[in-house]
Amino acid sequence: MMALKSFALIIAIFAVVTSISHASDPSPLQDFCVAINDTMAHVLVNGKFCKNPEHVAADDFFSSGLNMPGNTSNQLGFAVTGLNVNSFPGLNTLGISFARFDYAPYGLDPPHTNPRGSEILVVVEGMLYVGFVTSTSGPNMRNRLFTKILHPGDVFVFPVGLIHFQLNVGKEAKAVAFAAFSSQNPGYNIVANALFGSHPPINDDILAKAFQVDEKIVDYIRSQFEWDNN
Ligand SMILES: *[C@@H]1O[C@H](CO)[C@@H](O)[C@H](O)[C@H]1NC(C)=O
Ligand SMILES: *[C@@H]1O[C@H](CO)[C@@H](O)[C@H](O)[C@H]1NC(C)=O
Repeated sequence: MMALKSFALIIAIFAVVTSISHASDPSPLQDFCVAINDTMAHVLVNGKFCKNPEHVAADDFFSSGLNMPGNTSNQLGFAVTGLNVNSFPGLNTLGISFARFDYAPYGLDPPHTNPRGSEILVVVEGMLYVGFVTSTSGPNMRNRLFTKILHPGDVFVFPVGLIHFQLNVGKEAKAVAFAAFSSQNPGYNIVANALFGSHPPINDDILAKAFQVDEKIVDYIRSQFEWDNN
């Protein structure tokens, strides 16, 4: 009797824990749901409408071109070629996506979050200094920074939602990495752009107080974001 009760308790705890710990997109509920590219749809759903399975073809599950480097001629020296549900309809409901990252010498993927997906990254060329910062929740977890130098073949994981970055530290050499995400549409939110390049702008006094600086400094930083409207 006692054993049965504790067994029931364990099942109940397990049910609660699993229900609150879904870390990726929900189950597809079917073999696939290739997204319809319908720009005329006037309703938004959480995800995309499914193409009629009879009209689905192998090309819906196919993409090419990731052998081509992205254009890193920009202020950051960095380019993302993203394969998410918006460019690859076969990913719809599957909870995964993919990207290629190109870095010019000293190129930077600036501190950002992927709000909906964890990221696992492999370096195939060059040397990257990578890191992420934890949130302030949990004991001894007050914004801890975890970093690593990565060489070709090295893999690093960035937990969902945490601020992270990669910097090409190879001497005068470009770098290339590929990454997979636990979401069909992980999102890309650069911290600096979100705070200083938002539309409309966040009030100066809010940023001045948050960063504990003069409003003139906020105006100066904001002016640096006019080149990139995010
Ligand atoms: C790369 O981007 C720069 C800046 O936008 C542009 O001037 C240049 O033509 C692009 N290069 C290629 C190969 O597309
Ligand atoms: C979806 O349609 C738009 C507009 O026709 C087009 O620009 C875009 O490339 C299409 N996307 C895909 C994944 O086919």
